[in-house]
Amino acid sequence: MALLNVLCYPDPRLHKVAKPVGQVDARVKKIVADMAETMYEAPGVGLAATQVDIHERIVVIDVSDEQNELRVFINPEIIWSSPEKKSWREGCLSVPDFYDEVERPAQVKVRALDLDGKEFEIDADGLLAVCLQHEMDHLQGKVFVEYLSMLKRTRVSQKLKKRAKELLGER
Ligand code: NI
Repeated sequence: MALLNVLCYPDPRLHKVAKPVGQVDARVKKIVADMAETMYEAPGVGLAATQVDIHERIVVIDVSDEQNELRVFINPEIIWSSPEKKSWREGCLSVPDFYDEVERPAQVKVRALDLDGKEFEIDADGLLAVCLQHEMDHLQGKVFVEYLSMLKRTRVSQKLKKRAKELLGER
């Protein structure tokens, strides 16, 4: 396993649209293992392949308190969203030290492939529903700050660009 480099907003590669996985083979399993290691190390509750510059439809999530319930979603699709919405304070490994409220459907039904290439469906609510929608947005090239006002987005973008420069300067 290996730790992967997480792209930081406003990196343009975060806006690439991921392609479906053709076959769940050893190559894909290695990507999943590396993504899980990277997510746990961060630590984070979810990671989309787009964030590690792999533009394939792969998501890993672990919303458990003990961080011992890894969920893998390959080629995930939202097949139902509740009309009821809910607002959560979201964060993202690609937008360090920034959190803000985003309103999304409170419940979703998702269909995906597991690590054996088998199709499954899951009904999600609470943090899992938020996380699934947030990570699947990444696969479409969308970062959660794009739900916020232009003013907030510009602010966070400037702050992170400055931070990236400072980090480079420290090397
Ligand atoms: Ni994110």
